[in-house]
Amino acid sequence: MRTQDELKQQAAQAALDIVLPQLQPESILGVGTGSTVDRFIDLLAAHREAFRAAVSSSERSTQRLQAAGIQVLDLNEVSSLTLYVDGADELDHQLNMIKGGGGALTREKIVASVADRFVCIVDESKLVQQLGRFALPIEVIPLAREAVAREVRQLGGRPVLRAGFTTDNGNQILDVSGLQYDDPAEFEAMLNNIPGVVCCGLFAISGAHLALVAGQDGMSLLELQES
Ligand code: 5RP
Repeated sequence: MRTQDELKQQAAQAALDIVLPQLQPESILGVGTGSTVDRFIDLLAAHREAFRAAVSSSERSTQRLQAAGIQVLDLNEVSSLTLYVDGADELDHQLNMIKGGGGALTREKIVASVADRFVCIVDESKLVQQLGRFALPIEVIPLAREAVAREVRQLGGRPVLRAGFTTDNGNQILDVSGLQYDDPAEFEAMLNNIPGVVCCGLFAISGAHLALVAGQDGMSLLELQES
């Protein structure tokens, strides 16, 4: 029986195996945030000569990338990214995700939006039939926290302030349980429309293109079927 940490390591290795052949000396790679991505960064360090630089989704990943000798560019200096690699807190079979357990959801969504393809790396505990077990992180402007919380309660949610936490953007996070996602993309759009919401951790309007899921029986690859 492999531990969750070992499965995260496997997912990171699988991502490296997929990403490396696609990197050119001029390539810039989008890098997410979290313990699974930390392992990916550690593996990437040995291949830093294979690509030009990375764009990071958090101060935490920036520090780890730089410590690994990988150059980190500001997103404003970059017009496109071939790939974006990141973990998730929940992933469904349509490759919709809940993200933001580490609080980096806003930068993650922005960096992912610039990439051609989002490669999601998770252990099998994250794969669900229906999103909703993990409380949805919502980044809010501090001034709007209670106003957003009231709106979210109207939608059936139970918001809890992530105490003592400030995002890299200087905002706060409400972790919202009790929500139902019958149409995740429509629900994401609705949350985006609440004044004071900076970003919600639902990644459904634009989800992952490819997911690498590490399980006790080996790696599974889920790929979005483009219509
Ligand atoms: C951070 C995230 C992470 O991708 C998510 O929390 C998964 O983290 P981990 O790989 O540590 O399980 O969205 O904001």
